[in-house]
Amino acid sequence: MTIAGLEDIGAAVATLRAGGLVAFPTETVYGLGANAADRAAVAKIFALKGRPSDHPVIVHIDDPRRLPRWAREVPEPARALAARFWPGPLTLILPKSDEVDEVVTGGQDSVGIRVPSHPVAQRLLRAFGGGVAAPSANRYGHLSPTRAAHVREEFGDAVPIVLDGGESQIGLESTIVACLGDGVRLLRPGHITRSQIAAVAGELVEAGEAPRAPGDRSLHYAPRTPLELVPAPLLASRIASIATHGERVGVLGRGPAPPDRHPGVVWLEAAAEAQAYAHDLYDRLRTLDHAGCARILVETPPRDESWSAVNDRLRRACGLGGRAIEAGAD
Ligand code: TXA
Ligand code: MG
Repeated sequence: MTIAGLEDIGAAVATLRAGGLVAFPTETVYGLGANAADRAAVAKIFALKGRPSDHPVIVHIDDPRRLPRWAREVPEPARALAARFWPGPLTLILPKSDEVDEVVTGGQDSVGIRVPSHPVAQRLLRAFGGGVAAPSANRYGHLSPTRAAHVREEFGDAVPIVLDGGESQIGLESTIVACLGDGVRLLRPGHITRSQIAAVAGELVEAGEAPRAPGDRSLHYAPRTPLELVPAPLLASRIASIATHGERVGVLGRGPAPPDRHPGVVWLEAAAEAQAYAHDLYDRLRTLDHAGCARILVETPPRDESWSAVNDRLRRACGLGGRAIEAGAD
């Protein structure tokens, strides 16, 4: 692995300016970026991902000073959240400025903005100087990439530049918070928790009252192999019922593989602690997805707040939908 250097950043900036796509690392997941001010370039992202055009994309900037170009208003709670959590794994949904193209916002009157902290993302955004529209760098509905190799796996040569920044430290997509002047809403849980948001922005309004991100669909962040969440006490019998039919079964367990396990079982042990679990999750699910299994069984993680983003993504990956979560996930 070669971490992107100055030359690579120069080539990436030239590509963005020429209307091309660049994949780049962030501390959450890798993004598939285009010049947010170039309508045709942003449209290429949608075409490549196979993403419906009414799904808005996040605009990445290097510094909150650039906000006025993208947001017509920054309500007070958003200012406080930006001051506390940027650069970092937080996306703010703000009233959009007139200059933001509707291809970026999916036709909505709001825009999602994020200032990522990853040094390669920072270097890229600073050198580019504008906003980079970027969803996660995966095919629509699939697992987000947390390594440069995952991006290559998703798109091959269709994305000419993939800046390598090593493994994404967090491993799950940013926390999304809407600040549209009518209360603060958590639209997608992430590394920054609901309590951390509330401690800075005050009481949150229930996300259920917010308008839904259009085109939301239930199966997201998903491996191609069907995935099931299975509580610990039921795991052994569920494994047996699949394996006895002669099919391979992938397991993301919360402990080591049982010594007497069926030979058709591919068992990966997940980290015990929430942040380490999140860091590894998509990479582990990709590994199991490639193991030729009929099903992937994930042992249900704990339910407390530090696990809320992990649980949200797992529920979506098996088609259960997020809990009171309104933003789609692409
Ligand atoms: O961590 C992340 O957020 C990564 C990295 C690359 O920054 N990006 C990411 O983008 O996860 P994406 O497109 O995969 O997910 C962004 C979510 C989508 O569900 C989209 O609907 C929502 O953000 N979103 C973006 N703009 C929005 C808006 N104006 N209103 C409501 N939801 C919005
Ligand atoms: Mg995504």
